[in-house]
Amino acid sequence: ARSIDLAVIPGDGIGQEVVAQGLKVLSAVLPQDVKLETKEYDFGARRYHATGETLTDADLEQLKQHDAILLGAIGDPSVPSGVLERGFLLKLRFAFDHHVNLRPSKLLPGVETPLAGQPEIDFVVVREGTEGPYTGNGGTIRKGTEHEVATEVSVNTAFGVERVVRDAFARAQARPRKKLALIHKNNVLTFAGHLWTNIFNKVAAEYPEVTTEYMHVDAATIYLVTQPERFDVIVTDNLFGDIVTDLAAAVSGGIGVAASGNINPSGEFPSMFEPVHGSAPDIAGQGKADPTATVLSVALLLRHLGYEDEAARIEDAVAADLAGRVGKPARSTDEIGDALAVRVAG
Ligand code: IPM
Ligand code: MN
Repeated sequence: ARSIDLAVIPGDGIGQEVVAQGLKVLSAVLPQDVKLETKEYDFGARRYHATGETLTDADLEQLKQHDAILLGAIGDPSVPSGVLERGFLLKLRFAFDHHVNLRPSKLLPGVETPLAGQPEIDFVVVREGTEGPYTGNGGTIRKGTEHEVATEVSVNTAFGVERVVRDAFARAQARPRKKLALIHKNNVLTFAGHLWTNIFNKVAAEYPEVTTEYMHVDAATIYLVTQPERFDVIVTDNLFGDIVTDLAAAVSGGIGVAASGNINPSGEFPSMFEPVHGSAPDIAGQGKADPTATVLSVALLLRHLGYEDEAARIEDAVAADLAGRVGKPARSTDEIGDALAVRVAG
């Protein structure tokens, strides 16, 4: 019999509420013969305050045993900025070599966009997840003085760039439009930019059917707003990817519907799936959070584990649910989760 052994990390704030709905929909969509096992982990602000720990080596050993990880959100105003970001989220992405940070953007019918008209938005960003300026490769000298100097050096390896570029080409090749854009800033960041551009061009030669373009990141923020239909697959570095995916979410329905996968394609380590949004402490505990982004992250999780039909059923259910919202009063987190669970089961 088939089985899924899932690590569940609800985390802080609305993470708890949205993950409950994600699991509800997951249980509803899985066929009878698939055995779902879940184990909950208490990472986040409470554990940090209680023990001072964010994510230990022993934790990583345990998490490694699972097939995949579902994460709600980590972060709370009571914890100094950077502690959980670096100590938990980035530590996990790096330890499990989540080098493909997959962030799809699709504007579904009935969903509001701040853009004029109803542009056709359907693209996916392949954000590098383990290198760039995120590696913590920096330092401060003369700290606290008027002559303080801080560096934050972006790390780009040929190995790391090539593997993510190859992943993006393979995804572009598998999509109907077969388009891939490299986003960087190679007119200014000439060392890293040229490494990315050279590798991109080298791999492009192996994919004659894929139409490629290069775009500077500043120009890309304009096109994402003025011509979002132009994009199919985007590949970019860790920091540019962080920024453009928030913009991408904003134009395609907001962070309430933005899903992501932190993927280790080889399967050596479990991949982690999470909504792009944070823990939203201002609305936590009120049943106001939209669980859609988490539910769509569950679809990415299922697709990653080979459950394509179930993933598609969740995406169809979400599309129908969103289309049905027009002109209706807002529902609670629970009500949306219930409605989606009914749809995927039916
Ligand atoms: C994201 C977040 C994280 C990132 C932070 C919380 C470390 O913004 O997942 O996009 O920058 O990657
Ligand atoms: Mn971000």
